[in-house]
Amino acid sequence: MTIILGLESSCDETAAAIVRSDRTVLSHALAGQEDHHRAFGGVVPEIAARAHSELMMPLVETALADAGMTLDDVDAIAATAGPGLIGGVMVGLVTAKALAMAAGKPLIAVNHLEGHALSPRLVDADLDFPYLLLLVSGGHCQLLRVNGVGYYDRLATTIDDAVGEAFDKTAKILGLGFPGGPAVERAAQNGDAKNVPLPRPLKGADEPHFSFAGLKSAVVRAHDTGQYRIEDIAASFQQAVVECLADRLTYTLDRIDPPGALVVAGGVAANMQIRGMLESLAEKRGMRFVAPPLWLCTDNGAMIAWAGAERFAAGHTDGLDFVARPRWPLDPDAAPARGAGVKA
Ligand SMILES: Nc1ncnc2c1ncn2[C@@H]1O[C@H](COP(=O)(O)OP(=O)(O)OP(=O)(O)O)[C@@H](O)[C@H]1O
Ligand SMILES: [Mg+2]
Repeated sequence: MTIILGLESSCDETAAAIVRSDRTVLSHALAGQEDHHRAFGGVVPEIAARAHSELMMPLVETALADAGMTLDDVDAIAATAGPGLIGGVMVGLVTAKALAMAAGKPLIAVNHLEGHALSPRLVDADLDFPYLLLLVSGGHCQLLRVNGVGYYDRLATTIDDAVGEAFDKTAKILGLGFPGGPAVERAAQNGDAKNVPLPRPLKGADEPHFSFAGLKSAVVRAHDTGQYRIEDIAASFQQAVVECLADRLTYTLDRIDPPGALVVAGGVAANMQIRGMLESLAEKRGMRFVAPPLWLCTDNGAMIAWAGAERFAAGHTDGLDFVARPRWPLDPDAAPARGAGVKA
C-alpha cells in the first residue's frame, strides 16, 4: 500500500491531498481563488501564480495535519506539471520538488489531464481499462480511449473553444458572474430551452470533432437583441451544448468498437443536464456510465495524488529536472484537428 501527496495549481484552484493506493482519500485541502479574479471576469495568470505561492504550503500543512501524517509517512510526492497556466504550474511543481528533495522521496510529474482522466478510477474500483472518456473542462473538450496509465487515443477534440470556456463566456455575456458554469446551470433551471434559436455547431458533420465558438457568438447576438430573458438564453445555450455533445459522441460510437464504460471527467462533468444525457446515451449502447462525484470533477489535489499513485504503481517517477509544460497532450500522436486555436 502506498501513500501519495498530490499538489494541484494549474489554473485557479490551489490544492493538496493525500491518497492511499487502496483508494482512500486521507485528506484533501483546497482553496479557490474566485475572489482574486472576480473583478476581471476570468482568471488572470499572474494573479493566480502569486496566489498559488501564498496558498500552497499552508494547504500542504493542512493536508498532512488532517491525515495525521508528516512527510516521512508519504511514499512519493506528485504535482501537476502541465498543461496549464505556466506560472501556477511552476509553483506547484517547484514546491513538490523541494518537498521531495527535503524528505528524500520520489517526485511524480503528473499531466493534469491524466489527473482528470483517471479520477473516476479513484472512486470506482470496478472501472477497468479500456474506457471511453469524455473530458470536458475549462481548457479542453476531448473524446479519448483510455487504454491504460499513460496510454491514450484521442478520438476527437474541439477545433476552437473548450466547452467550459463556452460556459464561462456565456456567463460573462449574460452577467451571471464568475465562475460561469455553475451560474449558467442555475439560471437555465428557470429558463425555457426552446425560446432562443441557437446553432448546433458541427452537428451532423462527417468528422468527429467539437466546436463551440459559433455558439458563443450566437449567444452574444441573441443577448444584444434585448428580446430574450437571461434564463431562456442560458437554458437554450445549455441545451445546444448537450445536443452537440450527444451528436458528436454518437458519431464516434457508431464507428468504433465501444469499450464497456462511458466515463465523463473534468469540471463541466459537474453539469447535471450533461450527465443525464450521457447516462441515457450509455444505457442505449449497453455501456456502463461512470461519473466522479462533483468535488472530484473540478480541479482538486486528490485526482493528482491518485494519478500519482497509478503512475507510481506502474513504475513511473521523475527527476528533479522535470520542466513544467504549458502544453502537454495526452495523445502526442493524434493528428491535429483543423481550425485555428487548436487545443492540445
Ligand atoms: N455545473 C457546471 N456546468 C457547466 N460547467 C461547469 C459546471 N461546473 C464547473 N463548470 C466548468 O468547469 C470548468 C472548470 O473545470 P476544470 O477545473 O476541470 O477546468 P480547468 O482546470 O480550468 O481546465 P483544464 O482541466 O482543461 O486545464 C469551468 O469552465 C467551469 O465553468
Ligand atoms: Mg482541470
